[in-house]
Amino acid sequence: MTREHQILQHAIQDRLLTDDTTVIGFMDLDGLGRSIDDLNAAFPDHFQHTFAVKANSLRHVLMTLSHCGIGAEVASPGELTMAQSAGFDTAKIIFDSPAKTMDDLRQCLKHSIAFNLDNEQEFERVATLIKEYPNTNAIIGFRINPQIGSGAISSTSTATNTSKFGYPIGDAGNRERLISHYLDHPWLTSIHTHAGSQGCPLELMAQGIGELVKLAEEINARRGAQQITRLDIGGGLPVNFASPEVKPTFQDYADILRADVPVLFTGKYTVKTEFGRAIAAKNGFMVTRVEYTKQAGGRHIATTHAGAQIMTRTAFLPAAWPIRVQGFTPDGQLKTADPVQTDVAGPCCFAADLVAKDVSLPRLDPNDYVAIYDTGAYYFSNHFDYNSLPRIAVYGVSTGSDGMSIDLIRRAETLSEVVSNMS
Ligand SMILES: Cc1ncc(COP(=O)(O)O)c(C=O)c1O
Repeated sequence: MTREHQILQHAIQDRLLTDDTTVIGFMDLDGLGRSIDDLNAAFPDHFQHTFAVKANSLRHVLMTLSHCGIGAEVASPGELTMAQSAGFDTAKIIFDSPAKTMDDLRQCLKHSIAFNLDNEQEFERVATLIKEYPNTNAIIGFRINPQIGSGAISSTSTATNTSKFGYPIGDAGNRERLISHYLDHPWLTSIHTHAGSQGCPLELMAQGIGELVKLAEEINARRGAQQITRLDIGGGLPVNFASPEVKPTFQDYADILRADVPVLFTGKYTVKTEFGRAIAAKNGFMVTRVEYTKQAGGRHIATTHAGAQIMTRTAFLPAAWPIRVQGFTPDGQLKTADPVQTDVAGPCCFAADLVAKDVSLPRLDPNDYVAIYDTGAYYFSNHFDYNSLPRIAVYGVSTGSDGMSIDLIRRAETLSEVVSNMS
């Protein structure tokens, strides 16, 4: 019996799935520890690993990972707060948002939180602000876009010619301009690229990192000293969603990097990594109950409670993010008989809200359970990215006899805040 199956049976015995709790996400905290062991074993000691908090910002997940000794890569003030509250050492946090406000930048400089600059306008802001914080220990560098092209999923490919991320070094004059920014500003001591994510071949990612290293070496050579001491090579290791096998492994990626970008392994630079999906995805899965079933146009439809609200990518881009599912009886036995072409549907009111479409599954019945695998990253932990919500406000506009008034009608809150504000 698989570990997931054991967990599912335990959850059924403990009556965790009720009429009120119709979807449960499980995170294997032991599994997370093992993934970090694999990561540490694959790379030498001068690699400093961080977890990309956007992949799963649940506090217990973060606490488990911070106890493993790694750092955190955060992309919003909400993620920063979550990481700090989970015990990550500030010296091991790196702030990566492409839309940092002046306040975000001040906080980083004031509290010596490392950050990557996305663009020249942000750089100009920091060049001015840093004079207010002459003693900051924040490690600062540009994020570059090596413009090496797209992987199989364009929406997660970050190094296309026109990607919104980073400083595009292939555009006319940009490489030289970036080098002069470094030479004129010795506080730029790091350089970063995240040239991948799901769907990118490892060789393509290595090519982007190769460009990063070439640039760092050129800047240091022209400075005549090692100004850049840290290379941040991002995350992006793809995950196998087709079977339980972990493929590629961290070791596979390390082997390709060692062959294609050997400088990374000499110890000349500290190397930062920012893996998210590869650490968390296979350590999580969901279970939901089948509420109803029906036949439509010859298809068996099983309506469950897991859909776009917690499976955004699969619901909106099903071809790019297919997900593995299995059916279980109400007492937790794996269903194996009577396969039929099935749509496993979510609860949201739009037609594409499907967990799996036209897949052959043993016939599902009401009160069966569906396990949805490899969902430990960017699925049930990310309800439309609630940690970035506190910055969103909604105003109501009305015109009366006194003229127009604009009033705050809602500041977005997490569900638990909404509930506690109501009581
Ligand atoms: C800068 C940066 N680092 C790390 C990550 C984590 O990527 P992944 O979860 O694919 O490892 C992302 C994801 O978008 C990112 O933009």
